[in-house]
Amino acid sequence: MAVSSKGVISVVTTRVLLAVFLLQSVCDFKLPTVQADLEVGYYENTGLCSGAEAVVAAVVSAAFDADATVTASLIRLQFHDCFVQGCDASIMENGTFTERTSPPDLTVRGYNVIDAAKAALEEFCPGSVSCADIITIAARDSIAILGGPTFPVLTGRLDGFPRGPDSPDPSDFLPGPNFTIPMATGAFAQKNLSQVDMVNLLGAHTVGVAQCRFFVDRLYNFLGTGRPDPDLDPTYGDYLRKICPDTTNSSDPSLLTNVALDFKSEFKWDLSYFTNVKQRRGLLRIDDELGTNTATSPHFTQIGSSNLLFNKEFIDSLTKMSQIGVITDPALGNIREVCEIAIAPETISMSFQLEEEVLEAHSAF
Ligand code: HEM
Repeated sequence: MAVSSKGVISVVTTRVLLAVFLLQSVCDFKLPTVQADLEVGYYENTGLCSGAEAVVAAVVSAAFDADATVTASLIRLQFHDCFVQGCDASIMENGTFTERTSPPDLTVRGYNVIDAAKAALEEFCPGSVSCADIITIAARDSIAILGGPTFPVLTGRLDGFPRGPDSPDPSDFLPGPNFTIPMATGAFAQKNLSQVDMVNLLGAHTVGVAQCRFFVDRLYNFLGTGRPDPDLDPTYGDYLRKICPDTTNSSDPSLLTNVALDFKSEFKWDLSYFTNVKQRRGLLRIDDELGTNTATSPHFTQIGSSNLLFNKEFIDSLTKMSQIGVITDPALGNIREVCEIAIAPETISMSFQLEEEVLEAHSAF
């Protein structure tokens, strides 16, 4: 079921309004002039918006109730935001030639949930909580809802300025589904993440879906051989061929059919992704290669043997990922009012200037 941000807001109205009512008294409305570095509990510690994380949690939980698939999408949204020009909510900017209109982001979902959380927070603590932080908190909460660990996240990011002609192209940074291990390792190294981080983070494929078009070549014509990928378990291959028919028509709607990344365990944060991959039931080529490549398979096997270890390693790497290119300097970023609309620095100084002029005009009377 599609969830509009309005729909989500109406579902959470009671929960959020109650939170607003209880917490508004402790929520100071301040503009963050001096932004400290990232820290756990930034909005509590600074008094900028105590209860901000609870508001996001309420919105994510309501969105999950309305559409259980959205939580996996929110986990991926954070990855796609952080990997392009840092965790700065640049992915949220809407319009032509934005990140979200670029090919790697066309199947990213969950924007409406971030918008809904932002709208709730603008009621609660206007101008205080960045979209970049909402993305981080929402991904963390999504993992917990799906049965994964609960863990603290760093907050205190600012949102990026609007995209310009020199802004990075997502296609240059986001790894594709047919990337080999060396190619994907290179993409992570570009962001100062190690191959171990990559293996840990790909564990997120324990939840969510992928469209047939991202792996159909493995079912019928792997690397132009006219045959299926020999690495694919034949029974699993038969199962997938029933869902994703062979087609040469690139606009065949069957290519958009969603298939669980983790066979029979799309909604559960567990170890079955590792077991499936080891049994040659990895859906994407990158998943399959994690289990077969000699460079990645020892660590993959190790974390796939213990929930505790997987979660610990995942959280460590996610925390690193969440710090890529963050903005904390107010000269380089700001807090948007609406996540889809990035605000240029001139706009802010202009509005301050205007405000000052209005004040001056008032005091003249
Ligand atoms: C080499 C790295 C990676 C590649 C090539 C890759 C590729 C993909 C592809 C092709 C999809 C399917 C998209 C669709 O059909 O809508 C997908 C889904 C997903 N990816 Fe990855 N991914 C990678 C790393 C990551 C990382 C680092 C995370 C998070 C930490 C992540 C989380 C997810 C999730 C949760 C989904 C399911 C999304 C949904 O259900 O809407 N992936 N990935």
